[in-house]
Amino acid sequence: MKNVLVVGATGQIGSELTMLLRKHIPAGNIVAGYIKGAEPKGVLLESGPAELSDVTNAQQLAGIVEKYNIDTIYNLAAILSATAEAKPLLAWNIQMNGLINLLEIAREKNCAVFTPSSIGAFGPDTPHVNTPQDTIQRPKTMYGVTKVSCELLSDYYHIKYGVDTRSVRFPGLISNVTPPGGGTTDYAVDIYYAAVEGREFVCPIQNGTFMDMMYMPDALRAAISIMEADPTKLIHRNSFNIASMSFDPEIIYNEIKKVIPEFKMRYEFDPLRQAIADSWPDKMDDSCARAEWGWKPEYDLTSMTKDMIEKLSLRLKK
Ligand code: SER
Repeated sequence: MKNVLVVGATGQIGSELTMLLRKHIPAGNIVAGYIKGAEPKGVLLESGPAELSDVTNAQQLAGIVEKYNIDTIYNLAAILSATAEAKPLLAWNIQMNGLINLLEIAREKNCAVFTPSSIGAFGPDTPHVNTPQDTIQRPKTMYGVTKVSCELLSDYYHIKYGVDTRSVRFPGLISNVTPPGGGTTDYAVDIYYAAVEGREFVCPIQNGTFMDMMYMPDALRAAISIMEADPTKLIHRNSFNIASMSFDPEIIYNEIKKVIPEFKMRYEFDPLRQAIADSWPDKMDDSCARAEWGWKPEYDLTSMTKDMIEKLSLRLKK
């Protein structure tokens, strides 16, 4: 990994991953790819190159790969689960046509490609507790359909053409930097903003609904470690279950209350998000990731909550 293109560099994962990569690798070698309307600003813009890189524009992408001699692509352009139900064709276009554009370029230019999958790649027929690495994947959402297809297509390009594709199935990601948008797990980010801003939180997910979640620093480490892993040790590629914590709304609420006792929450569930959440695993088994490339999370719910509240308090209470 010497010259990297991050597609979706101003998004929830991209904005932090680009900055972290710029600390590991000379910053000038990490290209922040963005789309119109989501231009990079501040330190993201000033710390390295930035290029318009619309994942649906193959010619534009090929030009950037050529210009910067890119050897690794992080493909982080995606439409999250709830938005994908409202705009299924947009989700298909970004997730699938975007990926095939990148895989074709990777095949020609010999690039490695990371395209995250998700807990959304599973469905109602999947075992929900200790969801195995290799199991039934019959999602009923457009997001899930595209995520399973991305896994299959990435493996296909590896087997057929030797393209170095690797990825992980991210849990819901929680961060204090760039908020997510249009996802089912977003509530676990929004709840911290409400708590720190002194607002009552209206929870769109019902009590008792467990989902895998992960703090962003662990997710970023996973995205880098998998691409740096010894390929001879990888039995799987697209995509590895990774896990660090699983909770329902009541558990995260009570954890926050330990720090902010006056915090209030009530439930007003969103039927679309609830149905999606009900179809996803409660808790994934990530033993293959641990065995094949040494995956190990650092944060649990308590340490994440402490850090989230400290960082958000500093930023929001200025
Ligand atoms: N966070 C995503 C969503 O909720 C799942 O990967 O859509």
